[in-house]
Amino acid sequence: MVVNLLEVKNLKTYFFTGKKVLPAVDSVNFTIHKGETVALVGESGCGKSITSLSIIQLVPQPGGKIVEGEIIFDGVDLTKLSEKALCQIRGKEISMIFQEPMTSLNPVLTVGEQIIEVLVYHQKMDRKAARKKAAELLELVGFPRAESVLDEYPHRLSGGMRQRVMIAMAVSCQPKLLIADEPTTALDVTIQAQILELLKDLTKKLDMSILLITHDLGVVSEMAERVIVMYAGQVVEEAPIEALLNYPLHPYTDGLIQSVPGISGHTERLASIPGNVPTPDRYPSGCRFAPRCKKAFDRCFKEAPELTDHGDQRRVRCFLYEMGDDTP
Ligand SMILES: Nc1ncnc2c1ncn2[C@@H]1O[C@H](COP(=O)(O)OP(=O)(O)OP(=O)(O)O)[C@@H](O)[C@H]1O
Ligand code: SF4
Ligand SMILES: [Mg+2]
Repeated sequence: MVVNLLEVKNLKTYFFTGKKVLPAVDSVNFTIHKGETVALVGESGCGKSITSLSIIQLVPQPGGKIVEGEIIFDGVDLTKLSEKALCQIRGKEISMIFQEPMTSLNPVLTVGEQIIEVLVYHQKMDRKAARKKAAELLELVGFPRAESVLDEYPHRLSGGMRQRVMIAMAVSCQPKLLIADEPTTALDVTIQAQILELLKDLTKKLDMSILLITHDLGVVSEMAERVIVMYAGQVVEEAPIEALLNYPLHPYTDGLIQSVPGISGHTERLASIPGNVPTPDRYPSGCRFAPRCKKAFDRCFKEAPELTDHGDQRRVRCFLYEMGDDTP
């Protein structure tokens, strides 16, 4: 049975800087089911990180604010909770890992001390039990000699090992949802594959959902069951992974796929989408993708398309599909 774990409803997260209002996330809607891995993709600046930070109510300050919308997690609207209640949820029910683990690990504490701290705070364990559990967690994420890693400082570990430590900390309280924001981008290709394999393995072992944020569709094809494509602060397409890769509807998704070697059948990376993502103060008034779209026609420059259902768990924001035209 499909059970909703997270529902992001009409989320609007704006930045207020001086006289400017920047709609970084502009009416975003999506759902993650229990146990499911969903990828959020799009080029740099599309609003992926701000969407994920909005979910855990950590919108960057000063200036960032959720101005509208609901974040329903396990039946509770997180936008309505106090900071105290949110602290109980962050790191326990929803965990987050980032691109560069060094920024989230404390350089003056050993790996063990940091994991133990989480377990003592959230699980109310005593330090001895927490140390034992910390070693088990390090084993779970693939350290064969876990005991000795406990007493290491983060700078003594490689990038891949640090990311494993972050993952151990993130899953230490068996979160229902793990938000992974570009978790492998800073790592070399072999290590990337190992970390993705580990995450995949953990979703099964821990019955966890993942929101995987990446600009790399190659990573998505390995990991995700469903994909949400964002462009200029909005969702432009959503589909199960195979359908999306084999049969993208939105011209932007098609461009993203064309630019990934391997997936598209090309061996080299192609710069197939000309131009750049507009910043939130420069969104065009019609379809936000129109200035870069090969399929754009008159109407696209005057009106903004809505996100519409396309059957088979698919949604798309493009005028081409209003008329029943299925060829992007
Ligand atoms: N603190 C801030 N103040 C003002 N604008 C911001 C702030 N943080 C992000 N933005 C803007 O919000 C938009 C979305 O940013 P976000 O970080 O979510 O992009 P992203 O999709 O995660 O990109 P990347 O792939 O580079 O991480 C961008 O235009 C960015 O410039
Ligand atoms: S609405 Fe027009 S400009 Fe926008 S993606 Fe579709 S065809 Fe391209
Ligand atoms: Mg980001």
